[in-house]
This record gives sequence, structure tokens and C-alpha cells, in this order.
Amino acid sequence: MAEKAILEQLDSTETIADSGDFSSAKGFDHNEIVNIIKSLHGFKFVDAQEIKKEKWVLTDEGKVYTASGSPEVQLFNAVPPEGISREELQKKIDPSIYKIGTLYASKNRWLDMGKQQVSRKVQDVTDQVKDLLLQIKDGKAINQEDINALKKRKLITLQTWNGYSLKKGPNFALERKKLVTDFTREHLQRGDWRNLELKEYNFSAKALPPDGGHLHPLLKVREQFRNIFIELGFEEMPTNNYVESSFWNFDALFQPQQHPARDSHDTFFLKDPSSTRTLPEDYVERVKQVHESGGYGSKGYEYDWKREEANKNVLRTHTTAVSARMLYKIAQKPFIPRRYFSIDRVFRNEAVDRTHLAEFHQIEGIVCDRGLTLGDLMGVLHDFFTRLGMSSLRFKPTYNPYTEPSMEIYSYHEGLEKWVEVGNSGMFRPEMLLPMGLPEDVTAIAWGLSLERPTMILYGIDNIRDLFGPKVDLSLIKRNPICRLGID
Ligand code: PHE
Repeated sequence: MAEKAILEQLDSTETIADSGDFSSAKGFDHNEIVNIIKSLHGFKFVDAQEIKKEKWVLTDEGKVYTASGSPEVQLFNAVPPEGISREELQKKIDPSIYKIGTLYASKNRWLDMGKQQVSRKVQDVTDQVKDLLLQIKDGKAINQEDINALKKRKLITLQTWNGYSLKKGPNFALERKKLVTDFTREHLQRGDWRNLELKEYNFSAKALPPDGGHLHPLLKVREQFRNIFIELGFEEMPTNNYVESSFWNFDALFQPQQHPARDSHDTFFLKDPSSTRTLPEDYVERVKQVHESGGYGSKGYEYDWKREEANKNVLRTHTTAVSARMLYKIAQKPFIPRRYFSIDRVFRNEAVDRTHLAEFHQIEGIVCDRGLTLGDLMGVLHDFFTRLGMSSLRFKPTYNPYTEPSMEIYSYHEGLEKWVEVGNSGMFRPEMLLPMGLPEDVTAIAWGLSLERPTMILYGIDNIRDLFGPKVDLSLIKRNPICRLGID
């Protein structure tokens, strides 16, 4: 119907200047006309140009007054010629009407609002506000002063209106045949397939965007840490072995074989293969010596070191195993100073709770040079943590079997208003470095932290199970924002 009217109008007058005027002249709903125009335009039956107009329309309050009259007139009419007490008047009229009516009836000098008594100042009044609102409703123009007054009273509001001007398009015709998109069995049975006009394929239609390829927050934060290390001149160590021998994970680090961390409560042992095949024998011998009887100025632990214990395969419990392999490797060649880092997964047989999982990621840095001191370690830590936006650090002595001295690292957290632990650090012991074959004056400073902790802080996640593992909400992975460290 409406489509036919548009096409017929164009056929006789060539153009339709305003779809709004057209709709009201023909008695159509403008929204319906707009939908038809869009479709006709798409099929090039018509050529439609958008037009925008601004027009004043009534607010809900304005609409109410077109029926009931303005509050001031309602109030005026409620006051009889002989006057009325305020109390009586208030009983007769709705409180909001009374309030607004009082304001304008006084302003207009229609009523004398005495303390006790209300009386008329004029014989009768006309409801100009209602008349103006009715004019706006009919789309008539009114003067700017009246518009301003009604707008101020929030009785009218400006609405932008979108419509179209039309002229004939290249495919213009008086009738549009509905194109068939599906060719069905029924078409064949009925035999009407002969007369069908089939819709052409649209080979340039855009397909749905593919849903995939999102980076996990841990990967984003890892990338940021990587960039910081690289800016500071660190090289990445190869971390591609989750399975490690106890030898590299513990023994090489001068961690005694009875150390509680080796207990199956803390460490996952492998069943198959349960032990490592090869270890560097001469180095193993020196490690055994240093555990049993010391050397290099140390007493050792004075116990019977067992090769079977060192052979046991474990899931690495820390990336310091990676650092130990690397230090041993560089000790086999003439020494040159080095800076290394690693960021990868480690495993601990821990009870899972909101801050602990059985697997997590460690970030570790080492600097290895002649004559490094604790001051160098503190300096490097300052450089590193300042780049993370943590420039006030404090250190607390602690114990690690492989470092001496060892320090926990604390940073002041502005949000929590307290010092929070952000990492662990130390200088590798001579009992670890010298059996590897490093020169005596070479020291190595190192530190480690978890990747999960800063990631949870950065992404506002307070339960680690919401970050990693089967309970993670996939939409978090799809929508998490990019990460920029140390930039406010
Ligand atoms: N390996 C330690 C840990 O697992 C971290 C650390 C790395 C400590 C290097 C000192 C030196 O917590």
C-alpha cells in the first residue's frame, strides 16, 4: 500500500521533497515509510537523500497539560470569585499542581496568595500555555520567546527528525516483484518456479567476523615484562622443559636432599620416566662433594648425598632450575658478563585456593659479573621495579638454600596503603657457582616473582581461579584490555 503510494507519487511528480510531509498528507506512519524507502533505495528503485530536521515536541508533562490545562489555570479555576482559604484550596488540588500553579499564578498576577486566604486579582484568565502546547503538538510554528519559556518549564523538547527526499532511481518501476531467496521443493511441485524472479547472490556481502585469536591477560603481561628485560639488556633463557631432574631443580642449587620442598607435598614427581638419563658426571661429582663435605670455604651439609635422589624427575618447582642450567653452560666457556631472564610455568603440589594454583608462572632475572655486590642487586631491582611503576622498595632478609644474602622485596602499595611483598632475591652462593666452574671472583645476583600476582592486580581479579584454569570466563579472555606497565 504505502510502497505503491510512493512509487505512484514519483511516477507522477518525479520527486518527493520530504518523506515526512508525504506521510502526513497520505496518512501513513513515517517509520513505516522510512523502512520502505530504505529498501527501495537498496534496490535502486528510488534515489533517497537523507534530510534532518529539528522540531519541538511535547514532553510527558506538556502532553498532560494539553488535556488538563496548565497548573496555573487549574489553580485559578479552583479559586471561587469570593476567595478561599489556603487550606481548602490545598485540599481541592493535587500537591504538585498546587506548587507549580502557585508559582505561575502569582507571577502572572492572577491570584493574591495571602497567608491565610487566596483570592482572585482578575475576573478570568485564558490558558495561553495550553494553547501554545496544542500549537506545538500540531506542528505549528510559535515565536522564540514562547519556545524559550516552555523549554525552561520542560514542557517541550527539541527532537531531531530524520526523513528523506526522493527521486526515481535507475531501476524505477511502478511495481516491485518480491525476489525469491530460496528455491524450494514446493516451487517445483506447484510449477510456479517458471515465473520466479530469483534474488541475485551478493558476493560482496560481509561475513560474520571470525571469533578467535584472543590473548590471555597472562600473555599480555608477560609481553610487557619481556619488553622491560629487553630494554635493560637481558637475554631470554630457554625454558622449554617442564620436566626437570631433581639434580637441576634442587641439587645444583645446593638444596639439601632432605629439604622439605623436595617432599611430595610440595613437588610433583614423575612416574614415567621417573628418573633422568644423563647428567654431566664430573659436575655431579663436585655437587655431591659440596653437599657432603663442602669446599670453597664451606662445610657442606655433612650427609650422604644420594645419586638416586638427584636422578628423580620432577615438574620444575621454580625457574631457578633454568638459571642453574644456564650458569653451568656459560661456566664451560671463557667468562663474559651476562644478563638473563626467563618467564615460564612452574608447578607446586599445593592446596588450591583463591591465591594459589598448582601451576603458575615465574619471572626471573639474573646478572652475572665479576665482583657484583648486594648494592648492585638493590640497584638492578630499583631499575626493574621502577619500570613497573614501583619506585619505593624495601628489603627484608630471608632464607633461600641457594642465595646468601637473600632478600624479600617489598613495594609500597598506594591503594592498599601498605607494603606488599613483590618478589624474592639474593646472591647465588659460592657452593652453587664454584662447582659449576665459574671463576672465583664471579658473582651472580638474581630475583624472582610471580606473573599471576601483577596480572591479577592489573586486571582487578581477586581469585586466581578466575584468571587461569577451567573456571575462567571466556568473555574475559575475549574482552580484556591491553596492558601497559608503569604508565598511569
Ligand atoms: N626461586 C625463588 C622462588 O621460587 C625466587 C628466587 C629467584 C630467589 C632467584 C632468589 C633468586 O621463590
